[in-house]
Amino acid sequence: MTAVTCIADLQALARRRVPKMFYEYADTGSWTESTYHDNEAALQRQRLRQRVARNIDNRSLKTQLVGQDVTMPVALAPVGMTGMMHADGEILAAQAAEDFGVPYTLTTMSVCSIEDVAAHTTKPFWFQLYVMRDRGFSESLMKRALDANCSALVLTLDLQVLGQRHRDIKNGLSTPPKPTARVLADLLFKPRWCWHMLQTKRRDFGNIVGHVQGVADMTSLSEWTVSQFDPTLDWSSVEWVKKHWNRKLILKGINDVEDSKIAADLGADAIVVSNHGGRQLDGARASYEVLGGIVDAVGDKVEIHFDSGIRSGQDILKAIAMGAKGTFIGRSYIYGLGAMGKAGVTKTLEIMQKELDITMALCGETDIREAGRHNLVL
Ligand code: FNR
Repeated sequence: MTAVTCIADLQALARRRVPKMFYEYADTGSWTESTYHDNEAALQRQRLRQRVARNIDNRSLKTQLVGQDVTMPVALAPVGMTGMMHADGEILAAQAAEDFGVPYTLTTMSVCSIEDVAAHTTKPFWFQLYVMRDRGFSESLMKRALDANCSALVLTLDLQVLGQRHRDIKNGLSTPPKPTARVLADLLFKPRWCWHMLQTKRRDFGNIVGHVQGVADMTSLSEWTVSQFDPTLDWSSVEWVKKHWNRKLILKGINDVEDSKIAADLGADAIVVSNHGGRQLDGARASYEVLGGIVDAVGDKVEIHFDSGIRSGQDILKAIAMGAKGTFIGRSYIYGLGAMGKAGVTKTLEIMQKELDITMALCGETDIREAGRHNLVL
């Protein structure tokens, strides 16, 4: 095997090792995928200012995210069905993040449950909430996250209805996969994935199955999920969440200056400038293109995090220089996980850290907290 030196290498390995249905679930955007691709392109287009003859010894990437010490300004984003990219995926990713010193965010739609991830980690992780029509269930999820010692709640605001992803429909995406002839033929070429999956019992939505009445099998679960995301979710619902959550609150999915002002006024601890990695509103502006305007509008009122399109440490530096305090990575670590399990997530973080450190140095900076727009060609 040739050396893995960048995220694209992990992506290529994941494509070979993860069943097509799940690999494509990650590597896809909604409809024409224009926003999905534009997210990466917008970061690529940004040019950096090269500075020379400065003392760049003793560099530091350390900072804080919502008051928590981190080794670099990165958190692992919530990703549905992580446990289908690799057996026990959520536990492995959470452990890799903990070892590295960055936050892990567990999605509502995970395979491993909140309690399961808590039992296999030693430090608090973050929990991402989708608000469901059944508010009682959403309330119980928050209670479970509090009991599991989660230190922050990431409330996702941009998925009240699902942006259509053509490939998921064509592939008949389900958890666990249905044993059709096409799926079985594909699995023949994914022995590594099958081997690990046979060793685990965690193969359905761990936060939901067994916790919701009438949802015992997967057919009723998929119907339940589609019908459950709450289309009435509005800013007053955020107030409702705050009544049940007394720790750090992060509002995710802001892609518009007006929305960022409302979110900041609500008193969130942080907002995530994000378009869900181009998986929701196809045609929305690239996340990086709106970041600067949002920083200018509310950067003095609320901590700003950024995601959608980060594939390198250079991308992280660009977002931080534009004014974000932290970033989330989604597919970049999911590719690592699909490629090599826990070691692959660690590899993703190592690649990002090295690229971020060297790029920062070549821009003439020694402390990530000092990076700013002076590092960008604007
Ligand atoms: C996601 N994302 C997501 N977000 C969320 O709040 N809850 C979720 O369950 C999921 N599920 C999910 C699945 C997959 C396969 C992907 C790729 C993404 C969005 C995610 O948290 C993040 O916003 C994006 O992944 C960021 O874009 P990049 O880094 O993947 O380009």
